[in-house]
Amino acid sequence: MNIALVGFGSVGKGVAQVFSKKQDHLRQKYDLSFSFKGIFTSKGAFLDPNGLDLQNILNTKDLTAHPSWKKDLSFMESIDDLDVDLVIEVTPTNIEDGEPGKSHIISSIKKGCDVVTANKGPLVVAFNELTQLAQQNDSILRYEGSVAGGIPVFNLVRKSLQGNTIHSLKGILNGTSNFILTQMTYERTSFKSALKTAQELGYAEADPTYDVEGIDAASKTVILANGLFGMNKGIDDVYIQGITKVTPEAIELAGNDNFLIKHIASIEDGQIEVAPRLIPVTSTLAVNGTLNVISLQTDLAKEITIIGRGAGGEETASAILSDVINIHCARTTLS
Ligand SMILES: NC(=O)c1ccc[n+]([C@@H]2O[C@H](COP(=O)([O-])OP(=O)(O)OC[C@H]3O[C@@H](n4cnc5c(N)ncnc54)[C@H](OP(=O)(O)O)[C@@H]3O)[C@@H](O)[C@H]2O)c1
Repeated sequence: MNIALVGFGSVGKGVAQVFSKKQDHLRQKYDLSFSFKGIFTSKGAFLDPNGLDLQNILNTKDLTAHPSWKKDLSFMESIDDLDVDLVIEVTPTNIEDGEPGKSHIISSIKKGCDVVTANKGPLVVAFNELTQLAQQNDSILRYEGSVAGGIPVFNLVRKSLQGNTIHSLKGILNGTSNFILTQMTYERTSFKSALKTAQELGYAEADPTYDVEGIDAASKTVILANGLFGMNKGIDDVYIQGITKVTPEAIELAGNDNFLIKHIASIEDGQIEVAPRLIPVTSTLAVNGTLNVISLQTDLAKEITIIGRGAGGEETASAILSDVINIHCARTTLS
């Protein structure tokens, strides 16, 4: 399998690391051999028609001094000449117009490549357009890493709950806001002080708006609504309330009655929302710290709940790797 990697930040480096580490495992267990032909950043690319040495690139301090580095070369101007079967798209999320990821994905599909992405932007603004385009071009588009990092919700439903109807979903999809609410609950601190701790520990960005105002969780809920429930929703269809107005007093009052305040994403009866909600302390959704959780109500298996890490380079690369293996298995079974 010949691969191009677009984006070489925290997730892109995680992908390179994980593919490098799992090379023998992939060959022995799945008969999957791969070669990365290009790795693209916003400033240029590493290109080698014979395949890049991932470990060597990861170990290089000054990437621009690497012999394979091509300054200013973009993915869009390279795609036609690239000899690749699959594109991994992990550039920054932009939920305004989905770019640059949306164009990267469209061009890859039109070229006949399969695509694996963890980038929420293109999926939030153009989910149905992209999945239909993939179908028309006999391309496989997968996006396990785009929601809740390492938690395999789409593959769980696709591969193990195929016969079930999913009635509804509830979850915690943003580790930063869950960490803040956990701090407020157990350390009895204010929102401001909990946010400062989250920033000091590297769990929150300098500008935490998307996390604490619920935009990030809402984006993931849109992808879940479209990907699992066959809806055609955009971010404007989500009722969004962040956690900035949650007070220590409200948390204490809830605690007196054995409830917690959690930032809950929910998809039920065609309605989607992300908002602070009371849940019993014994609820399966009562996960703490930066953990994420997704709970599905299904007709046959009833409640299925999965808990795990919603972010991190290696965790997200785990989801990407599983998508790549599934595509490889689908392609080799078909051929
Ligand atoms: N981080 C996580 O834990 C996590 C979890 C789940 C999903 N995601 C999603 O995964 C994606 C990547 O996240 P990240 O944390 O790795 O982001 P990041 O650290 O900001 O890295 C983004 C990478 O994309 C590159 N890039 C930007 N514009 C580009 C362009 N036009 N062409 C090629 N490359 C371009 C950047 O280039 P430079 O190196 O030149 O800046 C950088 O290498 C995002 O969409 C994010 O929402 C992240």
